[in-house]
Amino acid sequence: MPERSDVLEAMIRAALRAGDSLRSDLSRPDLIEVREKSASDFVSSADLRSQAIIRAALTEAYPGHGLLLEEGDDRVTADAPRFVVDPLDGTTNFLHGIPHFAVSIALEAEGEVVAGVVLDVMKGELFLAERGGGAWLGERRLSVSRERGLGRSIVGTGIPHRGRGDHPRFLDAIAGIMRDVAGIRRFGAAALDLAYVAAGRMEAFFEIGLAPWDVAAGALLVTEAGGIVSQTGGKAVHLSGDVLASSNDGVHAAMLDRLAPLHAVALPLSRLPS
Ligand code: IPD
Ligand code: CA
Ligand code: CA
Repeated sequence: MPERSDVLEAMIRAALRAGDSLRSDLSRPDLIEVREKSASDFVSSADLRSQAIIRAALTEAYPGHGLLLEEGDDRVTADAPRFVVDPLDGTTNFLHGIPHFAVSIALEAEGEVVAGVVLDVMKGELFLAERGGGAWLGERRLSVSRERGLGRSIVGTGIPHRGRGDHPRFLDAIAGIMRDVAGIRRFGAAALDLAYVAAGRMEAFFEIGLAPWDVAAGALLVTEAGGIVSQTGGKAVHLSGDVLASSNDGVHAAMLDRLAPLHAVALPLSRLPS
């Protein structure tokens, strides 16, 4: 990677320290405390420990910056540059001993994400991007896949489950995708799904109901690797809600077409054809 900025270096240090803590927590599952915040939305003592480490590291290095943390709402500022942090993306995987989860840290300034770090804790893969400087996996520059059609594409998604999403509309959308693609993946960590699109490992990823900390760093990875990120209806992405990331305009157009059922307007009963 060309010269890394000081702030990116600080974000990397924070992510690596948090990763050490998560690895050590994973080795002692008997000590982990878990709470269900809402249906199927879990937070554990490992999430909180990771977050405390990141908060301490970033606050020490950049005391004037704001923080948007998944597991806490302190120091949220609207205009100052702020870090957007998911201290453990893939908590459900983590709690089941599935070694696929991440730390995600983005820096947002004047409403734009300008730097992002996604660390795959167990594989030790460190995905990095700075606006205008490309996306990187360690020292390797990333570029999205060149496949232009769905026929040889792999599509990642987040399948809604108990407590999440509109199941019938998701089933309509996935029905239109599954018959046309080479494979569908549900890995369980949205930040890594986006990093995989950036790395050319998957041609597209979509999910409904994501939060800024799931998307911020990963979306920058995708665009810096030459890909496209929008809402699933095609509007510009705003870092929360529904997200579609694709490797190129060919795949993106095909995905938007297949995702149309997610945006079909339900007719009021009185206007349904009889
Ligand atoms: C979740 C993961 C998962 C996605 C969910 C997210 P969390 O994040 O990214 O893959 O399907 O929508 O909430 O709760 O593990 O940080
Ligand atoms: Ca997350
Ligand atoms: Ca999380």
